[in-house]
Amino acid sequence: MRLSKFADELPVPPVLQPRWKDPFHTYYEVNMTEFKQSLHRELNDTTVWGFEGSYPGPTIEATSGERVFIQWINRLPDKHLLPVDRTVHGAHGNVPEVRTVVHVHGASVEWESDGYPEAWFTRGFQQTGPFFRKPIYRYDNTDRACTLWYHDHALGITRLNVYAGLAGFYLIRDHRERRLNLPSGKYEIPLMIQDKTFKEDGSLYYPEQPEKPVPGLETSIVPEFFGNTILVNGKVWPYLKVEPRKYRFRLLNASNARFYRLKLDSGQLFYQIGTDGGFMPHPIGVREITLAPAERADVIIDFANLAGKKITMTNDAPAPFPAGDPPDEHTGTVMQFRVSLPLSGVDTSVIPAVLLPLPKINEGSAVKIRYLTLNDRQDPYGREWMLLDNKPWDAPVTETPKLGSTEIWCLINLTGDTHPIHLHLIDFQILDRRDFDAERFKKEGVIRYTGPPIPPEPQERGWKDTVRANPNQVTRIIMRFGPYTGLYVWHCHILEHEDYEMMRPYLVIR
Ligand code: C2O
Ligand code: CU
Repeated sequence: MRLSKFADELPVPPVLQPRWKDPFHTYYEVNMTEFKQSLHRELNDTTVWGFEGSYPGPTIEATSGERVFIQWINRLPDKHLLPVDRTVHGAHGNVPEVRTVVHVHGASVEWESDGYPEAWFTRGFQQTGPFFRKPIYRYDNTDRACTLWYHDHALGITRLNVYAGLAGFYLIRDHRERRLNLPSGKYEIPLMIQDKTFKEDGSLYYPEQPEKPVPGLETSIVPEFFGNTILVNGKVWPYLKVEPRKYRFRLLNASNARFYRLKLDSGQLFYQIGTDGGFMPHPIGVREITLAPAERADVIIDFANLAGKKITMTNDAPAPFPAGDPPDEHTGTVMQFRVSLPLSGVDTSVIPAVLLPLPKINEGSAVKIRYLTLNDRQDPYGREWMLLDNKPWDAPVTETPKLGSTEIWCLINLTGDTHPIHLHLIDFQILDRRDFDAERFKKEGVIRYTGPPIPPEPQERGWKDTVRANPNQVTRIIMRFGPYTGLYVWHCHILEHEDYEMMRPYLVIR
């Protein structure tokens, strides 16, 4: 089915209102429900899952230091919207089919509120996973101003829950940001980019495996899912009418597996001001921005002097990344900006020359260096099975950093794909990437570098929580663990990999 491009206006998710708020606490209740929503004017309304009746979910805005409590409530049906897979970890036997748990991606959170994959709960908290601790989560928002997002994280079913619509923005603001005089209010817009495939009747398509490895069992785990249609904020190929002035956009790749390499067909620059974890020291002008699943970029686009123009945001990232097919004209198109609104006032916002200093974590302060492989294996049914450090999810915890200590993790990618590796709790800095002989490593277990260390790309020189670990490279990241102890996870953010079993627990100990 081919839908026309730029037929619908970009929706901006509403900002969530708290149930109550006093000087010390803010309390939200957020219901997850199933409903129908129009994703394109030529398409029948699509049954989706969302938060508070909205897909994407409403944007949660917090101030740095604000103490926020959220009750995430599952009011979803007992039957999933999409084909489940009972052969995947966490989905075996008699666990309930529909399980949810919400993680605020990039936030520094006590572990009991972090959305541990086995802390899932069902409708009305009737059943809960073995690590469920409490129904109301607490967020201290100790982070600096940054672009975070929340999404489902239930073990073995995250790919389906997020694809069904369970994702939204979570923005933290602070006083330094306010002083920067960036474009704000209606000139600051979050953009959640996803890919989906629709059936003729407008419903969401997610593959079922052609052959059933276990007779009578539904299976749907695929190596990666790529949709043939691009959506921004839940609309297919939307357009946005803008004034000839500066706008700030929070770009988020919330796709299951697709990477994007975004460009503006006018050839103009994005002024990137922030990474996953907040502001960069200085803005950088870039012509393209690569975003793996879960990565964010905070950018300013200046439409001044472009009145009357239409500018398309395009994508030329191959799928799978980096060695797959280039996108076609459909998946190569993201959205359109129409500079068709009159300037409503003088644009006094700025692209500040200086944003926020980035204290570099000193390599010498690391007390531990971990070498961790990314592996490509086959499961007992002959399906692709990606692992971290050759260990399944259930193997005993092996990464146990000490509270307050600094570590370097060397991600040794032995597969043919780039994997966006995400650690919960902390932000890290990328030290470098370095080519090595992967074949030799597989045979002898030793790293032989074949090139010099490559510094992170300009767009990655800031606080990160997700890093692209490329094939045939060792990617080094450095971080300090804290401020909480407890059980967290690290994983690949390609959701089909995370669900099967490219995810490991890690424990911050005292
Ligand atoms: Cu965006 Cu562990 O998640
Ligand atoms: Cu992966």
